[in-house]
Amino acid sequence: MKLFIDTADIDQVKEAWSWGIIDGVTTNPSHVSKTARPAAQVYREICEVVDGPISLETLSLEAEEMAEEGRRLAKYHGNVVVKIPMTLEGMKAVKILASEGIKTNVTVNFSPLQAMLAAKCGAAYISPFVGRLDAFGHVGMDLVRQIKTIYDNYGFQTEIIVAAVRHPTHVLEAALAGADIATMAYDILKQLYDHPLTDMGIEQFLKDWKSVPQS
Ligand code: E4P
Repeated sequence: MKLFIDTADIDQVKEAWSWGIIDGVTTNPSHVSKTARPAAQVYREICEVVDGPISLETLSLEAEEMAEEGRRLAKYHGNVVVKIPMTLEGMKAVKILASEGIKTNVTVNFSPLQAMLAAKCGAAYISPFVGRLDAFGHVGMDLVRQIKTIYDNYGFQTEIIVAAVRHPTHVLEAALAGADIATMAYDILKQLYDHPLTDMGIEQFLKDWKSVPQS
């Protein structure tokens, strides 16, 4: 299973990349806005650090403009994946970009039929936002399971990125559901390493070692 970091903060990207467990990066306009830095600068720096898919999002709402924006974003680096919102115009743009060999990640996905349309248009990735569904009383991971079933039924090659991840249990459920990727904030990535029993176990071993004769 692949793990992506969901951020535009270059320090977080550098640090997480140094751990050797992340495979790519997803950004969005809100993440870039939080950096208070020019997007072009942020994108260039991420592309210098990470050798894996890096999703950069379009902001246009009309297909031809989205495609043009996508072409511009794709020029940053060969690893760039153009993030396109799940709309009718967006799916037209996905089809155009796919025909030009430019990979896309269809974002703000909230239904299995939207995911089916994205796959039909040739999206490389689909991003169901599980945490935002949970917040409205749905079971976000059910969406992932339904997409997985549809993609398996018809042999769609589109990879599922579980997004809007809120805690490690989402990552566990994503892995059990057979999702290809989970993308998450730096803090959640870090939490994946932790277990209080691990800390207690290490502490006990170090304590016991003190009573082992040294010669
Ligand atoms: C994924 O690609 C998105 O950037 C991200 O997961 C959005 O989710 P959130 O803003 O609800 O955390």
